[in-house]
Amino acid sequence: MNGKVDVIVGLQWGDEGKGRVVDLMAADYDIVARFGGGDNAGHSIQVGDRRMAVRIIPSGALVPHTELFIGGGMVVNLETLAAELDLLSALGADVARVKVSDRAHVVLPHHALVDRARERARGADAIGTTGRGIGPAYVDRVARIGVTVGDLLDPRRAEAKMRASFQASAGILAELPDAPRMEDEISSTLAQAARIAPHVVDGVAFIHGALERGARILAEGAQAALLDIGLGTYPYVTSSHTVAGGACVGLGIGPKVIDRVIGVAKAYCSRVGGGPFPSELEGPIADRLRERGHEYGTVTGRPRRVGWFDAVAARYARRVNGLTGVVVTKLDVLSGLERIGVVTAYRRNGSVVDVGEMSEGIEVGVEWYEGWGEELKSPGHALGDLPAPARAYVEALRASFGVPIEFVSIGPERSAFVR
Ligand code: IMP
Repeated sequence: MNGKVDVIVGLQWGDEGKGRVVDLMAADYDIVARFGGGDNAGHSIQVGDRRMAVRIIPSGALVPHTELFIGGGMVVNLETLAAELDLLSALGADVARVKVSDRAHVVLPHHALVDRARERARGADAIGTTGRGIGPAYVDRVARIGVTVGDLLDPRRAEAKMRASFQASAGILAELPDAPRMEDEISSTLAQAARIAPHVVDGVAFIHGALERGARILAEGAQAALLDIGLGTYPYVTSSHTVAGGACVGLGIGPKVIDRVIGVAKAYCSRVGGGPFPSELEGPIADRLRERGHEYGTVTGRPRRVGWFDAVAARYARRVNGLTGVVVTKLDVLSGLERIGVVTAYRRNGSVVDVGEMSEGIEVGVEWYEGWGEELKSPGHALGDLPAPARAYVEALRASFGVPIEFVSIGPERSAFVR
């Protein structure tokens, strides 16, 4: 096996700009493969003057030669996938490059209703999910009543499994006025299945065939370390493994095939939905970061919570991912602040605690860095050309990850990064 897999993961609470990093790197790879999550993720791409959000198809869709693989660890909303295939075709992209693993699971229409009903039932403790049915689809998978993409190739089998899934949620659905009828769900899903069928492959054979031919594969993570189902701020997490190890089970590869693990971190933090956020800011600085950073959800449009960079969470993300390098995004958003905070410790009752004990209202220690007044506009400059306070700040971030910085983005344009 001569091929190699590099993995890109988010290091905070999502929305670090992974898609853009994958877009930049995709040309060097034969395959971009997503390994987890579904259309809860969202990444916008710019085509001429059109902006479109891609939620299921991996980033890098506009690089002509890369194959785009929807891995077995994903849960796939067929309607979203069909719409993305249509959109990419309309933009002139060759969609035959899109392959879907037979092991991926299907998000059925009722899953979204169950998701939202469970959120309502949690009241003030709501997770703040994207409402796309991701959790309930993974619940069906773990309960061994899920419908796989492979099942869709046999309509009779798919139908029987869809009935079982629907009936397992019958209690909750009976209370919802807008619940889909089971027969409608089955017929619409089978119609969409026919559209997806030409893209379905044996996911493990596909990846290993490619590796044996020496392919370079970029595994694209969704969400981020602190939203991982096992390692994040449970229960305020998503329902899949978002860390680098998720690429192994989500694609069906052993850990030794992985070469680089590149984490993506924003120069500050943001979080959508509920759950603890130790470095959270409110007031004028938060408003400034939100506006300058366009911190509104790609999928939901919700304003994101924002805060200082969190070095405690950064060290944790480094450990659970086994990083080899880091990309820092959106450094330019911090320009113009007099001073910039970095959270360097969590404390409870005077004792220092780690991420495992993160909770609402935990006390934090903050270290302050000098700001820089000027905008970081000029693309193509080296890291060393940044203003001295910006360099010192980037060095502090690097030290908290303990791995080299691959590059730092300083603006939304493709060329606006320094290394
Ligand atoms: P779910 O994945 O829709 O179940 O949502 C669970 C949690 O993950 C919520 O806090 C969501 O806001 C968060 N989440 C899911 N996907 C993303 C994402 O792409 N970016 C940021 N947060 C996300």
